[in-house]
Amino acid sequence: MIQFDKNRELEMAINNLICSMVDMDDYVTAILNYTEKVLTPQKEKELIEILKKYHVPHDSLKFNLKRLTENPYFRDIKLDKVATETVKYQTITIKKRTLMSMNFHQPLGKYLFHQHPIGYFEKDIDMPVLTEDGSVWMSPAISELESMQAGIEKGVGKCLTMGLGIGFLPYLWLQKDNVESVTIVEINQDIIDLFEKYIRPQFKTDKKLEIIHGDAFDYYNEKFLNQFDYVYLDFWESSGDGLGFYTRLMQIKRDFPHVDFWIEDSMLYDVKYIVAPYLYAVYAGDSITEFIASMDGDLRELAKKVNRYFKARNDVIRTEDELLGIIHDKDVLRAILAQ
Ligand SMILES: C[S@@+](CC[C@H](N)C(=O)[O-])C[C@H]1O[C@@H](n2cnc3c(N)ncnc32)[C@H](O)[C@@H]1O
Repeated sequence: MIQFDKNRELEMAINNLICSMVDMDDYVTAILNYTEKVLTPQKEKELIEILKKYHVPHDSLKFNLKRLTENPYFRDIKLDKVATETVKYQTITIKKRTLMSMNFHQPLGKYLFHQHPIGYFEKDIDMPVLTEDGSVWMSPAISELESMQAGIEKGVGKCLTMGLGIGFLPYLWLQKDNVESVTIVEINQDIIDLFEKYIRPQFKTDKKLEIIHGDAFDYYNEKFLNQFDYVYLDFWESSGDGLGFYTRLMQIKRDFPHVDFWIEDSMLYDVKYIVAPYLYAVYAGDSITEFIASMDGDLRELAKKVNRYFKARNDVIRTEDELLGIIHDKDVLRAILAQ
């Protein structure tokens, strides 16, 4: 079992970790009153005070519209002709100064506080949206674009993605001189048909773009993945459904150096939010059985995995750096999930 040297530095570090989780909760509750609403100058002042209180940067609230309008996909690909039995096109107008989430989670500070960057545009903006049963199915939204930026930049040579969607990532890869070809694994034939009929004809490229109809899990193996220079997996909608898929992938294999996972950091935060209170309980000598029993559903399963992982370790943690090294170590978090 992992052990702790009882000292002042470690005690403060563990307390700071837990406090940062509590702060996080308070912060989210405080800003919820402002998101998805038009931010009047008065409301903006109030919001800035909240952001300052939690040390969240507030100089970028006014989001540069060009990041969206000059994005090649947003500029070149028109979705207005899309009409299938289930999926329909709609334009939605985002009113100027509407406060929105601009990206997925970004860590802030060395403990467990993080932010989902928020901001607004200074002009009304028309967004193309594909809807299914009246709710948004897919859209080249700013948060998608921002959260995929690293994967877009890392694309090189022969690229592979799993999850076609509206072909946003493939299009942006194909714009890059250093990308030779793009292959996509997609499970849903309707999505492939929609793409072939309405979207692919607008892709102005001579490069190879191949779509394989299949399940990502059947292709997540060394032999297949090693045919590519860079792989970006993106077949989940959010961190909610993503963690389950990501866990299954980690159970198969977790150390492909050329494979990245969309919003991996967001998904791993859920794991960190169990690891931190677990280590607190170990440090304090609390009952681990009770700790696990206090969790519900999937979180309980996760807590059991965390316990199994740390029971098998026999090192002694002495400093804050060692503690944070564990909490933020991707290999540790992946190994916990892989069990
Ligand atoms: C969030 S979208 C991907 C967005 C896409 N990256 C883009 O750039 O537009 C998720 C896609 O993954 C597909 N998908 C879901 N489960 C899958 C699986 N097991 N294997 C392959 N594709 C899957 C869905 O049908 C959907 O097209």
